[in-house]
Amino acid sequence: MEGPGRILISHDEITARVAELGEAIRRDYAGRAPVLVGVLKGAVIFAADLIRAIPLPISLDFMSVSSYGSSTRPSGVVRLSSDLSLSIEGRDVIIVEDIIDSGRTISYLRRNLATRHPRSLALCALLDKVARREVEVTVDYIGFVIPDEFVVGYGLDDDGLHRNLRHIAVLERGRGP
Ligand code: IMP
Ligand code: MG
Repeated sequence: MEGPGRILISHDEITARVAELGEAIRRDYAGRAPVLVGVLKGAVIFAADLIRAIPLPISLDFMSVSSYGSSTRPSGVVRLSSDLSLSIEGRDVIIVEDIIDSGRTISYLRRNLATRHPRSLALCALLDKVARREVEVTVDYIGFVIPDEFVVGYGLDDDGLHRNLRHIAVLERGRGP
């Protein structure tokens, strides 16, 4: 599909990397039955592909957070807007995020989920903008480290659009004033 900008990561590269992540998770969680927790809406496509790359008895759930401000200028304040439907007490939980930017969303989620006493809590992010980190986070599985550019596609949006691109593209219009 025609995209809005330059291709940063092709669909084939994503597919290959998702298979590798699935294999790493299968190895690390052998004999267990983890719960994947996808963060809506950005991680929905990644989570859907990733779960099919993990041949284990696995559950899938979603939660949704909102950060105030716009997608290109987040304010850093994070709030839970839709919760899990499963209990994660005693479970091996893997949070699946689309992208780690400042790290604020994921550190909020980690803290929130940790209070529910999972057996273990790990984080898998498709993209990591390491250069933008404001709070320290440990990411257990990373798809790709990317430069500080605003990207869309494969679930990631700009004001709700471009989630349906099969690749990751750089949106060439800056991050606003
Ligand atoms: P953080 O809380 O600053 O780490 O921001 C994480 C969230 O910001 C992600 O889950 C995305 O929703 C959004 N985000 C950050 N960078 C991008 C981007 O380049 N494209 C689209 N969304 C982004
Ligand atoms: Mg997100």
